[in-house]
Amino acid sequence: MAALVSDLGDSTAALLLKGYTWLPDRLRRGGAGPVRTRLLGRPAVALHGPEAVGFFYDERNVRRRDALPGPVLDTLFGRGAVHTLDGEAHRVRKALFVERLTDAEAVSALVERVREEWRRAFEARGGTVVLFDEAALVLARAVSAWAGIALSEAWTRRLARDAVAMVDGFATPGPRHLRARVARLRQQRRIERLVNRRRSHGDGPGPAPTVLSAVTWHRDADGRLLDARTAAVELLNVVRPTVAIAWFVTFAAHALHRWPEHRDRLADEPAYALAFAHEVRRFYPFAPFLGGLAARDTTWQGTPVPEGTMLLLDVYGHNHDPALWPDPYHFHPDRFLGRAPGADEMIPQGGGDAATGHRCPGEDITVAVLKALSAELATLDHTVPDQDLRISLRRIPARPRSGFRMTLGGPGG
Ligand code: HEM
Repeated sequence: MAALVSDLGDSTAALLLKGYTWLPDRLRRGGAGPVRTRLLGRPAVALHGPEAVGFFYDERNVRRRDALPGPVLDTLFGRGAVHTLDGEAHRVRKALFVERLTDAEAVSALVERVREEWRRAFEARGGTVVLFDEAALVLARAVSAWAGIALSEAWTRRLARDAVAMVDGFATPGPRHLRARVARLRQQRRIERLVNRRRSHGDGPGPAPTVLSAVTWHRDADGRLLDARTAAVELLNVVRPTVAIAWFVTFAAHALHRWPEHRDRLADEPAYALAFAHEVRRFYPFAPFLGGLAARDTTWQGTPVPEGTMLLLDVYGHNHDPALWPDPYHFHPDRFLGRAPGADEMIPQGGGDAATGHRCPGEDITVAVLKALSAELATLDHTVPDQDLRISLRRIPARPRSGFRMTLGGPGG
């Protein structure tokens, strides 16, 4: 109890100001014990470390219902999303994702589409492009076709921009947030229409359903079809984060530019490309922390945690904790060579078990796509013009300021 550190004021302003470093700093100032704070007017306890991951992903301790603030739901995840469910309702909805997103054949089919779209986008092309925007478009093209959503070129471009906007604006008040809300509404409405059209044909999911038909015909724990809006929310929960891999691809380019010595091994050794993808996910900032609510009166490291207390699991700090990662601010893919990170060892996409808990079901896809595109980047003929490549840790989500401009070596390059 003595180790419990309290700050009396609300920390929301500090979070908005400091971004990724807010929670790790707060934990450091608190010493070894639990840290109590307030966020969005609610009492909160910050959790850090592998033991904390186990605690956070035990649903006897943490529930997700009512845990996410409205502005995050209205931009990033959508109302009624799988992220907000608990218990049986969560498990039944989650199976919809896990079955389709972790199947090895489905993952390689998506990676193949991504690779084809990447090569089509860059082949024989010259001039200067912004990698972040190009990667988002490549990913939007690949994932919409893979998921069974046939789109016009104009809608695909719109989808790429909207998916980026939803992620870019979830954590910041102001114009970025407004753009995120508009983007979500536009895409939800469009996909609702697709789902309704499918249902009016009434032909069912078929033997090898696409993500679109699986979501269209999914039955929740109560045995009912999802309402069309929730179906659109969940379809976007596949499309949007796949487009968001553009953040990691841009970070991969940043790493290759800063440390070009990785280039040859990346192009030649698949095992190294895999290790590189893991190191990009560990090293660069994306999800700052995760939130839930105490599901019952409980204790954490001897400190009472009343039911309903907000619990914040430190993600960025975990992936840079020197007790877990020797020399954590050194970009060093070799740390993952020949060994996959343990489930609760590295948590850029959550911890625990994806099938039973809230861990990201898109991790296999993320790793496979990032591995493939990092290898593509290593062999892409390009130069990097002068630009502002700083990555501000105050901005959530972070990215190189310029979006990574590159001049392609093709005709006109
Ligand atoms: C959940 C990160 C890619 C689908 C999550 C969570 C994180 C995360 C931190 C929350 C875990 C929790 O609440 O405990 C990321 C990052 C990605 C990524 C950084 C890389 C861009 C993907 C992809 C997909 C996906 C490619 C689908 C194709 C989901 C879904 C959930 C989720 C549906 C909700 C799981 C649940 O609540 O049970 N992701 N993700 N993500 N992710 Fe991802």
